[in-house]
Amino acid sequence: MSGFRYFGMMFFCLLVFMGSTEAQLQLGFYSRSCPNAERIVQDYVNRHIHNAPSLAAAIIRMHFHDCFVRGGPFWRVPTGRRDGTISRSSEALNNIPPPTSNFTNLQRLFANQGLDLKDLVLLSGAHTIGVAHCSSFSNRLYNFTGVGDQDPALDSEYAANLKARKCRSLSDNTTIVEMDPGSFRTFDLSYYSLLLKRRGLFQSDSALTTNSATLSFVNQLLQGPLQNFFGEFANSMEKMGRVNVKTGTTGEIRKHCAFVNS
Ligand SMILES: *[C@@H]1O[C@H](CO)[C@@H](O)[C@H](O)[C@H]1NC(C)=O
Ligand SMILES: *[C@@H]1O[C@H](CO)[C@@H](O)[C@H](O)[C@H]1NC(C)=O
Ligand SMILES: *[C@@H]1O[C@H](CO)[C@@H](O)[C@H](O)[C@H]1NC(C)=O
Repeated sequence: MSGFRYFGMMFFCLLVFMGSTEAQLQLGFYSRSCPNAERIVQDYVNRHIHNAPSLAAAIIRMHFHDCFVRGGPFWRVPTGRRDGTISRSSEALNNIPPPTSNFTNLQRLFANQGLDLKDLVLLSGAHTIGVAHCSSFSNRLYNFTGVGDQDPALDSEYAANLKARKCRSLSDNTTIVEMDPGSFRTFDLSYYSLLLKRRGLFQSDSALTTNSATLSFVNQLLQGPLQNFFGEFANSMEKMGRVNVKTGTTGEIRKHCAFVNS
């Protein structure tokens, strides 16, 4: 299984029952205690792909098809992470930048996690396969400053199209929109091209063009080969994967991944 790499963030829960006391995240953490661990995860994912919600489905589809068949970013997922002993739903979103974030907010939230502006641009690149509910951005279409206005930073033709065909009202909270229309199943650079056309869907997407450092990095990615983006994206994913990780004897191994052990 050494060549098998996957979108780890979604699957770590499955590994919690296989404990160990070694103190570092490492590749092949389960190779002795549970040699089939990664195979089990892969099989589970394959079996449940059809039940996955839309975003996960898009990611998984991309992963198993684009990565393995047509190429895409790859990264290693060191294992051995443990679970926290405190779980508050109110904290779950605290460190996740809301889609309405401006550049200042994004920079601060990423910095809090030890992630820099390059990581911000690269990880935002995952929106190349993203989908979003209208409610995450429809304020930009209908009521940006509270006077029934549109976000001037959003391309007006694109906004008109979204209003006519996707998010027909401010209260639409069910329609799902592709974040990289036309190529949302493909992990490519077109998300970054859209940013330059002022077609980033979230305020947090368009914010990337409001700072000279992130804007120039966007341009640099667009000028480089796709493989360069894949490599850099993979590095940032690995870096994010190490944020606030518990290993060794800290935390616990949950019996049910959604709940602290009682
Ligand atoms: C960014 O948003 C925060 C509120 O979330 C606001 O206080 C701040 O003024 C905004 N910064 C800019 C540059 O607009
Ligand atoms: C637009 O936002 C303002 C201020 O938040 C609010 O009072 C108004 O009701 C909103 N308009 C609509 C159509 O929701
Ligand atoms: C979505 O909108 C409907 C009708 O406006 C409302 O009844 C429902 O509670 C909303 N759902 C969410 C998750 O906000």
